[in-house]
Order: sequence, then structure tokens, then C-alpha cells
Amino acid sequence: MSAKEKVNIDWENLRFDYIKTDFRYISRWKDGKWDEGELSEDNMLSISEASTALHYGQQCFEGLKAYRTKDGDIQLFRPDENSKRMAVSCRRLLMPEVPEDKFIEACKRVVKANEQYVPPYGTGATLYLRPFVIGVGHNVGVKPAPEYIFCIFCVPVGPYFKGGLAPVNFNVAEYDRAAPYGTGGVKVGGNYAASLLPHEKAVKAGFADCIYLDPLTHTKIEEVGAANFFGITKDNKFITPQSESILPSITKYSLMHIAKEYLGMEVEERDVLVDKLDEFAEAGACGTAAVITPIGGIEYKGKMHVFFSETEVGPVTHKLYDTLCGIQIGDIEAPKGWIVKVG
Ligand SMILES: Cc1ncc(COP(=O)(O)O)c(C=O)c1O
Repeated sequence: MSAKEKVNIDWENLRFDYIKTDFRYISRWKDGKWDEGELSEDNMLSISEASTALHYGQQCFEGLKAYRTKDGDIQLFRPDENSKRMAVSCRRLLMPEVPEDKFIEACKRVVKANEQYVPPYGTGATLYLRPFVIGVGHNVGVKPAPEYIFCIFCVPVGPYFKGGLAPVNFNVAEYDRAAPYGTGGVKVGGNYAASLLPHEKAVKAGFADCIYLDPLTHTKIEEVGAANFFGITKDNKFITPQSESILPSITKYSLMHIAKEYLGMEVEERDVLVDKLDEFAEAGACGTAAVITPIGGIEYKGKMHVFFSETEVGPVTHKLYDTLCGIQIGDIEAPKGWIVKVG
């Protein structure tokens, strides 16, 4: 299919599901270097049965989005930050880093080649990019792979949690997502495999997902499923937890900047105690996929703590959402360097 042909997609009703798009970028690392990389129409990878990615979880991934602006342009939001975070994940698992210019160029190539899948302005849908690095090649012992693949595919997506900006409820997981000095701060698959069961249990109990506490003391909020937590105090401060085992969310750091510079709020990154939720007037989950999802309430030790409302979004959360989305789709001027045009 040519890059300009129209695709038949119901943009308004997209969920966060896989759709095969036309092209993905693939680059291979062998003998100490990455090759040029190429676009491929094949969405299947053929790898050794003895790949470290399959047995030892030697793999990491990223998630970022391309947005359609009012005048029809396409732009990426802070891809340099995803590239930097992926380099940290690669270093943690002894995988070769992908240079930042290669990463950003590959993102642009994938988006351009799949241009017709970038949802129209105003639909609320976006094109989600999934870069990943996996250890491949023949290897049996627990050691780094002899070869690697860096790939980026993309999918048009709608909201991650049902309802978009409608609040959802979470419970507190009885499991840990990460160990105190483990891999919680990097985006590696093992963290997510470990979260599947707690997620399923939360959903079966009627929640959107679960909240993870700090693995050492189980007293502090760390993550909200696959998103970071933020709360707005009754005196209008933006608070978000700080811990080595939280994934440093690009959305969260963007919101801290927006809260301070666009909304004039005080911002703090510090401990958030799960038994002191009363300090917050509003709370939310934030991430590339979740964007901002208002937290209606959190169930902890059999009691439901409701923040602003279980059905309505709070005013500060709403303003943060409007400003973030406005920047991402080009309606509001972005801080320098946040937007990369796909020319
Ligand atoms: C565990 C976890 N926390 C937080 C986030 C949010 O990070 P970001 O805002 O960079 O998407 C993600 C998604 O990447 C995640 O998987």
C-alpha cells in the first residue's frame, strides 16, 4: 500500500489494540555495530530459539506518540527523552545503545511510511510508536546476546483506560512490581511480565488496574499500573512520588514543568504515603498511553478513598490535561525542544 492511500479506520472508537500497519523499521547489531536499518513490510521477526530475549528477558522497549496538528502536520513529543531512557535500559541489561540521531531518524521514517495511519486532528486518537531492543543470536548460558535487533513499529490508538478523561478506580496490589535495587527504574519486559497477574486480579475485582507500593516498606505509592502517580494537594501543589524503582515518566516530568511554568503551581517530587491520601484534592495517573487518567478512588485495606469524585474530573487535572494535549497536538506553544516535526 502506498503511504498516501486512505485507510478505513473508525478513529473515534479506537482502543489501545494492535493493528498491523504497513512498515516497521529494523536495524541489526552484529560484530560491534548497528547496520543502516531498513523499513520492512513483514510484521514477523525470525530469531534464534536460543535468543536471550526469549529466555533471560534481555530486552527493553519504549513508547511514544506522533500527533496530527490542526494544519495537517505530524509531530513527535520529546523523542529525545525516549531515546535517552532506552539507552539507560540498554546499559542496565548490557545491550548496545542506539545512538539518539539513529533513534529519532528511525521514528520519523516509521511515521512517514505509515502516514495514513496517523489519526486526524481532533479525533483524540494518536499514532503510538513502539521501539524495542532484543538480544538475539544463538546462546544458551546466562550471558549477553551475541547479536541484537532494534525495531520500531507503530499502531493508531485511542485511550488506554476506558473512558478517556473519565475517572477510574484502582486498588493497591498485594504484589511488588520491582525490587528495591532492581529494574523498576528501567523499561524492561520482566517488570511487565510480573505485573500481568496483579493487573488481572485488579480487573477481576472491578478496578482499572492496581497501584504498586514501594517494595521496601509498602507504605509509599510508586506506580499506577503502567503509569506514574500525581496528586494535587488541597493548597494546589503538584506532588509526585520519588523513588529509584519508579519508571521516570516523560509525561510526569512534562507535567511538572507545565504545572510550574504554565499553571504557576508549586511542584514537589517526594514520598506519597498511602495512608495519607487525605492531603490530595485530586489525583491522576500519567503516561504516554494513559495521557492523564483521573483517579476516582483508591481501595486500600478494604476501604475506598475517593479523591475529587468517582465520576467527574477535577479542575486542576482538567487544566493539566488540556495544556499537555494542547502542546502535543500543536495548539499551545511547547517549551523549546519538546516537539520534533516529521517533515
Ligand atoms: C511502569 C510505567 N510507569 C510509567 C510510565 C509512563 O512513562 P511515559 O510518560 O514516559 O510514557 C510507563 C509507560 O511508559 C510505564 O510503563
